[in-house]
Amino acid sequence: MKAKNQATMDRLNQDELQAACSNADNMAGDAAAMEALRKAAEASVVYPADGNYIGDWKNGNVVAANGKGLQWNDDPSEPNGGNCYACHQLDPNEVAYGTLGPSLTNYGMRGQSEMMLKYTWAKIYNPHVYNVCSHMPRFGSQKILTEQQLKDIMALLLDPNSPVNQ
Ligand code: HEC
Repeated sequence: MKAKNQATMDRLNQDELQAACSNADNMAGDAAAMEALRKAAEASVVYPADGNYIGDWKNGNVVAANGKGLQWNDDPSEPNGGNCYACHQLDPNEVAYGTLGPSLTNYGMRGQSEMMLKYTWAKIYNPHVYNVCSHMPRFGSQKILTEQQLKDIMALLLDPNSPVNQ
């Protein structure tokens, strides 16, 4: 492997969390160390400054379906995608989706209480808050998606008019 454009070799260095989750002994034994890493993930979450969590689901669906960004041959001036469909079912009319993550179809039936808004935001911002060795990307803390893109994704999941909730 060699560095090319924005895909640099430092990406192969595991951060502390990844190293801990790759170590079977930690996973089995060191609950305190894993809880410290989970707490650090929790501290990384930045909630929307204006207190408004819900953007536009139509834009959110574009972000969810877009698998581009951060690869050597992607244009860094274009917005990154979330590639959510690679792991989740969302809009039930979309036939191409992965199943590594749970289906998010009808996610909006959980409502928009303060608790749900914060849970969903944090889960997308840094999934390790709720599952320390999550396999889902850290869309906020790794700066993959912008705050506006995260709000649009929130709308895709929670807006009653979103195709996810039909
Ligand atoms: C590489 C696979 C992968 C990608 C890409 C991915 N996820 Fe996930 N996601 C998972 C897995 C696995 C879980 C369940 C385990 C966990 O919580 O980490 C999950 C859990 C979730 C949950 C919690 C589900 C619940 O029932 O509470 C939400 C919400 C979620 N993902 C949203 C998203 C959104 C939105 C995107 C795109 C921006 C996305 N995910 C992209 C793998 C992925």
